[in-house]
Amino acid sequence: MPTGCQTLRGEYRLPVNQSYAPNGSKANPPLGPSPQAQAGASNGRAYICLQGVSKSYLEGEQRRTVLDQVSVEFYQGEFVAVIGKSGSGKTTLLNLISGIDHLDAGSIILDGQRVEEENEYQRTIFRRQKIGFIFQFFNLIPTLTVWENVILPLELNQLLNEASIDWAHRLLGEVGLGERLKTFPDRLSGGEQQRVAIARALVHNPVLVLADEPTGNLDEDTGRAILDMLDRLTRRAGKNMILVTHSSEAASYADRVLYLHEGRLVEQPK
Ligand SMILES: Nc1ncnc2c1ncn2[C@@H]1O[C@H](COP(=O)(O)OP(=O)(O)O)[C@@H](O)[C@H]1O
Ligand SMILES: [Mg+2]
Repeated sequence: MPTGCQTLRGEYRLPVNQSYAPNGSKANPPLGPSPQAQAGASNGRAYICLQGVSKSYLEGEQRRTVLDQVSVEFYQGEFVAVIGKSGSGKTTLLNLISGIDHLDAGSIILDGQRVEEENEYQRTIFRRQKIGFIFQFFNLIPTLTVWENVILPLELNQLLNEASIDWAHRLLGEVGLGERLKTFPDRLSGGEQQRVAIARALVHNPVLVLADEPTGNLDEDTGRAILDMLDRLTRRAGKNMILVTHSSEAASYADRVLYLHEGRLVEQPK
């Protein structure tokens, strides 16, 4: 059985069958691993634990709660989809996990590190090394070619060497853009740009791939092709992935689907 997250300092976290809510309420209990995770895609080790995570924003004079004591664990090798309506807090959740945004209460442990304890510099390094991002609007750098966009994470992490360059070439071949290395993003279709973004997200071998509505800006067929590719490449590389989306079709690719509604995450039967 999973044992919850452990930090690098060896501190033990609560087991999954206990409530993390500070008041002991079981209203939003931590969510467990999928059958796939238990059956072997995962070794049952949680690599992300959120415990009682709350986040609100000020809207004028009013405070709007986006996440309300969310407790959830993500297991090694899992592809988890978080589905929710626009404005439900999906991007906020990813921003908290990746340390882009700061939580109000609770704790997030990612791969042994307690995200909220790191300073901005440490968070930047941590994000750069451990996370690969895929966004709705691709977020490629327009002044860089396909090749330069893809190897950017290698450069930033000082990982450029013969083996990593070879891997970048292979990845670009896998996404069908091996012949477009010198092309600039504005010459590519949306689907092609997203394929570059997939290669860029995987090139530095991150622990975690975060995909924020990656098909939200693509037509249905292209979106499906992108999801097929993303699913295939992340599974083959044994990657952990969290995909947030409002699309139930996109979510259907995942091993486990969580539903984000009114600040709470609940398991959604597949
Ligand atoms: N930096 C911010 N400042 C104020 N409100 C924000 C900020 N980021 C997000 N919000 C609000 O939080 C809610 C959730 O936003 P978001 O996480 O972007 O939702 P989703 O990605 O599910 O569409 C929205 O009501 C949004 O307006
Ligand atoms: Mg969003």
